[in-house]
Amino acid sequence: MRRYGGTAGDLCFFFAPGRVNLIGEHTDYNGGNVLPAAISMGMRAAVRYTGGRSVRLSSLDQPGSHDLDLDGEVFFDERDGWTNYPKGVAAYLLHAGYRLRGCEVLYSSDIPVGAGLSSSAAIEVLTAYLLLFPLLGDSVDRVWMARMCQAVENRFVGVGCGIMDQFTVAMGKRDTAILLDCSSLKYKYIPAKLGDSRMVIMDTGKRRRLEESEFNERRRQCEQALSVIRLHKDIPNLCSATLEDVEAYVPDPTLQKRARHAVSENQRTMAAAELLARGDLEGFGSLMVESHYSLKNNYEVTGPELDAIVEEALSQRACLGARMTGAGFAGCAIALVWAAEVPGFREKVTGGYKLRTGVDASIYDCSLGDGARAGIPELPFPR
Ligand code: GLA
Repeated sequence: MRRYGGTAGDLCFFFAPGRVNLIGEHTDYNGGNVLPAAISMGMRAAVRYTGGRSVRLSSLDQPGSHDLDLDGEVFFDERDGWTNYPKGVAAYLLHAGYRLRGCEVLYSSDIPVGAGLSSSAAIEVLTAYLLLFPLLGDSVDRVWMARMCQAVENRFVGVGCGIMDQFTVAMGKRDTAILLDCSSLKYKYIPAKLGDSRMVIMDTGKRRRLEESEFNERRRQCEQALSVIRLHKDIPNLCSATLEDVEAYVPDPTLQKRARHAVSENQRTMAAAELLARGDLEGFGSLMVESHYSLKNNYEVTGPELDAIVEEALSQRACLGARMTGAGFAGCAIALVWAAEVPGFREKVTGGYKLRTGVDASIYDCSLGDGARAGIPELPFPR
């Protein structure tokens, strides 16, 4: 199907990756540390800059397209579906004073939507990058771009996410994880010394939408726990509390569990970053498992499918550790598996999971890749 005029010769190509979080879940909006990595799966865009005053948004994977007027007001509209993400980015860039060039954009993605691999951060950062490209080239301030995209998601789309996803999509680096302190945005690249093992992604096949999930409720509960602790102790964020503070000052059992997760997960993340840098795969794997069970029992964001796939993974001798990744509720988990054993692992985990849930899981054996960039030649776009 032909969606746009012009010739293939005037097209520019861009790419933004998805991400996995190796450990440090639900710590970002609590001022703690995270350890995510960009992945080789991601979202591509073919762009023709027209010089006009509108941006046409269309996708090979999703229905609907949208024409955005660069001189008009841009509003969130439920009926505009996925195009609200790029619309929000354009609105924020216009508000920041950038004189954007009109263009036609065709997106295509191999990141499953709603699977916890940050398809929304990918489309936000990709759109910001391609809209700013004619003005700034690759010299765009990537940390600023990530913060702007987080603001779009918080205020335009209405999900109270932290900075982790947008930061990783913008700043990812091949074969490395990013240890990010989300309160200061200080970060360190940690070489992912996986040795003879691989990080595989296990997709439960079950989807969720963050707007509908209890994500915002968890965030509110953490804020409540923090204000109760602050009656006794002056701390900048929940992750700065100790486990003793949580036990002593948070009487409500639900809030106490939420806070216990945030505080312990932050400690695990810092320990895990050191183990990964040293190549201590067994140590890293056992912290992944502790993380999953804290997300299940204290934070209560795993759900039956994520628990089933993690249990299936952990029942395999080839598996060094496994946990859900991303917001949870459904979507993907990750497992650290001896590389030579990945084919057998794939077969046994998908088989066992199907028996337990009746659902087909997918296992993606992808690598840790770079952040958003221009120029992806090998594209699945029709000529
Ligand atoms: C989602 C959010 C992130 C982070 C994770 C949980 O992916 O977008 O900011 O809060 O959930 O760690």
